[in-house]
Amino acid sequence: MKFNSMLKKFQNYNIPEENKPEFQRELIESNYIRSRNLSFLLFFIFIILLFTDYMKYRQGLWQENGGYRFLLYSHFFYVLLLFLLYGYLFVRRSYSQALTLQLKQHFVLTFSFIILLGASFTTIADQLIHGEITIYVLCIWLFAIINYQKPLSNLGMYAICHIVFLIGITFTQSSPAALSANYFNGTVLVILAVFVSRILFIAKVNDFNSKKTIEIQKSELEKKNLELSVANAELHDSLLALDESQNIIFSLTLALESKDTNTHGHSERVAQYAMAIAKHLNLNQKDMVDLWRAAILHDIGKIGIPDAILNKPSALTEEEWVIVKSHPHRGEVICSKLKFAHEILPIIRYHHERYDGKGYPDGLQGNDIPFLARIVSVADTVDAITSPRTYRPMSRTMEQAVEELKINSGTQFDPLLVEAFEKVYLANELNTISEALGDLYDIKS
Ligand SMILES: [Fe+2]
Repeated sequence: MKFNSMLKKFQNYNIPEENKPEFQRELIESNYIRSRNLSFLLFFIFIILLFTDYMKYRQGLWQENGGYRFLLYSHFFYVLLLFLLYGYLFVRRSYSQALTLQLKQHFVLTFSFIILLGASFTTIADQLIHGEITIYVLCIWLFAIINYQKPLSNLGMYAICHIVFLIGITFTQSSPAALSANYFNGTVLVILAVFVSRILFIAKVNDFNSKKTIEIQKSELEKKNLELSVANAELHDSLLALDESQNIIFSLTLALESKDTNTHGHSERVAQYAMAIAKHLNLNQKDMVDLWRAAILHDIGKIGIPDAILNKPSALTEEEWVIVKSHPHRGEVICSKLKFAHEILPIIRYHHERYDGKGYPDGLQGNDIPFLARIVSVADTVDAITSPRTYRPMSRTMEQAVEELKINSGTQFDPLLVEAFEKVYLANELNTISEALGDLYDIKS
């Protein structure tokens, strides 16, 4: 039981089930190429060795030591087996056209046996001549390094050849001291070779697994990249569409201002003042963009109000006021159809609310009024005061506008924003509005 679990542990290598066929294929292919090349090299080496064996025969060494004859047999055994192996491969190939994976595996296994068994036989001959096991050691280590077999298959192959080796040298080595040294050295070196071949095999497994992991990560990355480029293309299309709808709505604003003599350039100036306040308060970029859009569009609802009312030089009647006061709601309805304007609907709707709750359309009070709507309210009033109107040809100065704001601070306007606007004005930051506007156009685009 313990031996079984040891064997299992020895054989164990960790490759996911779905990758095993691919690993097996790669293993056989690489083993095949190395085995085939080495077999050609050995084939020619043994042909030369056969020639030297013949020379030894001519020198009369065969009579002195029977080992030389046995050496020739073992070299001949090598060449013959390799020849048979090539012949087998050639015949199979002529039937199946291509070398199948199974055929390559047969070649690798048979060649491995030929090397190891050949090494055992040569060493048996060597015992008669000089008593060394050098060829055996060279071959088992060569095999350990060039051939990646599963650890248990390797163990089996080494075991068979080592038994041949042990039995062979027992019969051919007459010196007990040399025999025990060869037993010991041969066995230790074969055990080491088994472990080295196992370590190399596990390294091969790890290489394969890392390669697979990289392949998986690469394909995931490629998939993500593809998704990203699709998303990018969609985003680009939406941005184009957004830009188009923005352009349409901003053109509408211009159209509105051109029909209302009172408000020429009004929305741009409101946007300038609002941005100056926003910059002073260090608002974030998203709020700046929303504020700018809302400031430009805040009076878009006036597009549905008759020119006669908008441009009326005298005071409005009760009914006319009701119509004028509907423009925040109308603006909200118009912009609700535009995806890009969803965020700014409350600003458009509430830009005429008052801090004390006496504004319209809903009479919101204090902090219930959206913060950006309170900014538009201040900016809107500043421009109304400082621009000429049909009913009031002379406009007032910015200083007067600030005074007006201060008078109405806490009633009509948020005191914090009145204070902010005054600071902006005193710091002469209203004159740098063109610079602020430059930034805004950047944001817009
Ligand atoms: Fe308005």
